[in-house]
Amino acid sequence: MSKSKSKPKPWDENWEKLEDIGSGGQGKTSLVKSKNDSSLPGKYVLKILHKQKDDERRARMYREVTNIRTLKNPGIPKLIDSNYEFFEDLNIPLYMVTELIEGSTLE
Ligand SMILES: Nc1ncnc2c1ncn2[C@@H]1O[C@H](COP(=O)(O)OP(=O)(O)O)[C@@H](O)[C@H]1O
Ligand SMILES: [Mg+2]
Repeated sequence: MSKSKSKPKPWDENWEKLEDIGSGGQGKTSLVKSKNDSSLPGKYVLKILHKQKDDERRARMYREVTNIRTLKNPGIPKLIDSNYEFFEDLNIPLYMVTELIEGSTLE
């Protein structure tokens, strides 16, 4: 069976990739801007899981998003968008978008 690389991804509907930022143990990050929402000006960070079919990674992303939503702290980038609620459906690639922390790399 051939892999369709051009299949639209869940994040494509609302987010346009501007450039790659980096790659962590869990996901790949890119600078993005909103395609449709004028209440979201400027740049944000999109993180896409590396291992989309891995239950444990998916659960970890679910917890990360839940944590970010719960913790309201100036040092923690706010959650802007995610489809994390689909973490149990392996057919849906997971992503999250957070505020951009300006400056050099977080690490
Ligand atoms: N909100 C953010 N603002 C700016 N850079 C970010 C942000 N989130 C992630 N990054 C960059 O992307 C890299 C990978 O993100 P990270 O959250 O560490 O992914 P992982 O969960 O895979 O470890 C970070 O090392 C950092 O350079
Ligand atoms: Mg990391």
